[in-house]
Amino acid sequence: MIYFDNAATSFPKAPGVAEAMSAFLANDAANPGRAGHRMAVAAEKMLDDVRLKLTRMVNGSDPRRLIFAMNCTDAINMAIKGVIHPTTTADDTHVITTVLEHNSVSRPLQAMADSGRISLSRVPCDDEGFVDPEAIRKAIGPTTKLIATTHASNVLGTIQDAAAIGAIAREHDLLFLLDAAQTIGAAPIDIEAMKVDLLAFPGHKSLLGPTGTGGLYVGERVPEPAEHSAAGLRPWREGGTGGDSSTPVQPALFPYYLEGGTPNTVGVAGLGAAIDYVLEHDPAAMLAHEQQMVQKLIDRFTDDSRFRVYGCGDASRRVGTLSLNLLEYEPGDVGSILDDSFETAVRPGLHCAPYAHRHLGTFPGGTVRISPGVFNTTEELDGLIDALDQIAG
Ligand SMILES: Cc1ncc(COP(=O)(O)O)c(C=O)c1O
Repeated sequence: MIYFDNAATSFPKAPGVAEAMSAFLANDAANPGRAGHRMAVAAEKMLDDVRLKLTRMVNGSDPRRLIFAMNCTDAINMAIKGVIHPTTTADDTHVITTVLEHNSVSRPLQAMADSGRISLSRVPCDDEGFVDPEAIRKAIGPTTKLIATTHASNVLGTIQDAAAIGAIAREHDLLFLLDAAQTIGAAPIDIEAMKVDLLAFPGHKSLLGPTGTGGLYVGERVPEPAEHSAAGLRPWREGGTGGDSSTPVQPALFPYYLEGGTPNTVGVAGLGAAIDYVLEHDPAAMLAHEQQMVQKLIDRFTDDSRFRVYGCGDASRRVGTLSLNLLEYEPGDVGSILDDSFETAVRPGLHCAPYAHRHLGTFPGGTVRISPGVFNTTEELDGLIDALDQIAG
C-alpha cells in the first residue's frame, strides 16, 4: 500500500517505536505510581522522561504542566471543558474560533453554544485558507474569554499565524488554545513566543508516535489548581492518580489533577522513541520534504482543467497536506479507485472539518486530501500523480 494519509495518522511510525513499545510491554509494563514498587516507579519515570522531552519541544517551562492525553481530541476537550465552567452563560462567556477547525474543537464549542453556555463567533478564512488575525481581534467583545484556533488546517494544510493570534489574545487578556494536531513534529511551536496558554497535540501524526497518545500543555497563565479559584482549569476526567489516594477529589497538583486513570504507558514508551527519531532527523528537514511533494502536486494540477486544487499555491506556507478534486468525480469515488486499483491511500470527504468545506464550497462531498509523509518517496508521488491523471483521463 502506498500511504498518503499522514494527516489522519502517520504511517509508517518512526523506526524504534514498535521496539520501544514491545520492550516496555515485555519488561516494564507496570501501572505507574509514585509511591509504588520499583516497576511502578520505573514506569512513572518513563512517563516523566517523555513529559520532559515534549515540554522542551514546545518550549514549556514546567514538565508537570504537560498532561498526557489519549489523542488531540482528548486534549482539546480537557482544555475547553476545563476553562469553560458548567455555570457559564451565553451572556457572560464568549468564545472565538474559526471556520478551519476540526470537529474536535468545533463540536464541543457548538454543543456549549447550543446549550446556552457560551456565545460563539466563527471567524472565516480567506480564499487561500488563512485566517486574518485582525478578524479575530474584531470579533473580541466584553465577555470574550477564549480564542480557540487550529495551527494548520487539516483540509488545506495552511499554517496560521499563531504568534499574531496569541499576541492579540494576550493584549486582551484572553486565553489562547492552539490545536497543534497538524503541526507538532513538523512546524516549530514555541508556546512562549506564540503566547499560547493551552497547547493541544497528538503523538500519532508528525511526531510519528503510536495512536492513543497526545497531550495538553497548560501554560503559566492557567493557575495551578492548588491556587485556583473558580477561574481555574477543571478536570473533565476524574479518578485514580497513582499516588495521594486520600483526597476526596482530584489532588490539586499538575499533572495528576488532569490525568485520572491508568495512562497509556505502552503508547508513551513508543512516543518517547518517536520523539528521539524526529529530533535526530530535524523536523524542519522533514517538513521541507513534505512541502516539496505538495508543491509538485500543486504545480502539476493547478492549471489542469480536469482538476481543482484548493488553498494557497505556495507549499512553504502549508504543512504536508493538499486538497483537490477531479471535476467529473465524487471525492469518495476517487478515494475508492485509488485504493482498489492503485493500492494508494488518500482521504476523501469532509475530514471532520465541515465548516471549512462549507467555506470552500465543497460541502457535503468534500475533497480528496493527499497528505505525504516523511517516508514517502518521489517514485510514490509520481505513481500517485500518474494514477490521478489516468482516473481523470
Ligand atoms: C486540526 C485537527 N485537530 C484535531 C484533530 C484530532 O486529533 P486526534 O485524532 O488525535 O484526536 C485532528 C485530527 O485529524 C486535526 O487534524
